[in-house]
Amino acid sequence: MTKDYRRLSQAALEARKMAYAPYSKFRVGAALLGKSGKIYTACNIENSSFNLTICAERVALFKAISEGEKDFAAIAIASDSDHYTSPCGACRQVINELAGNIPCIMVDKHGKYIVRKLNFLLPIAFTKNNLK
Ligand code: THU
Repeated sequence: MTKDYRRLSQAALEARKMAYAPYSKFRVGAALLGKSGKIYTACNIENSSFNLTICAERVALFKAISEGEKDFAAIAIASDSDHYTSPCGACRQVINELAGNIPCIMVDKHGKYIVRKLNFLLPIAFTKNNLK
């Protein structure tokens, strides 16, 4: 488990180097572990029409889902920050929808990390059950 977390942290740190972030200059990388064992990496992709920017976590999830992966074990998020990189609110909602209560590994630029389950980061979430 710790080995997986370390591997995912390193993959997220590496993925941030692909970021397209000319406006914020804030590079983010994500690494999502599928139950198949495959790791899906992604970065944030910004747009001159700022609200079209997409976060690294959502790119990773959409990439994985579009490639047929259905179940997930964990996700790591990293940036160039000295602080642990926490997923934004919108990404928490999408992680919950597509991956459920998985461990979220929040990584700093040195590779140090903390792990929290998604339900801790997004308590009393709005889900498909609320639509009934
Ligand atoms: N960003 C992410 O990629 N993930 C997050 O969870 C937080 C924010 C990106 C979006 C934008 O390109 C930049 O970081 C600054 O907000």
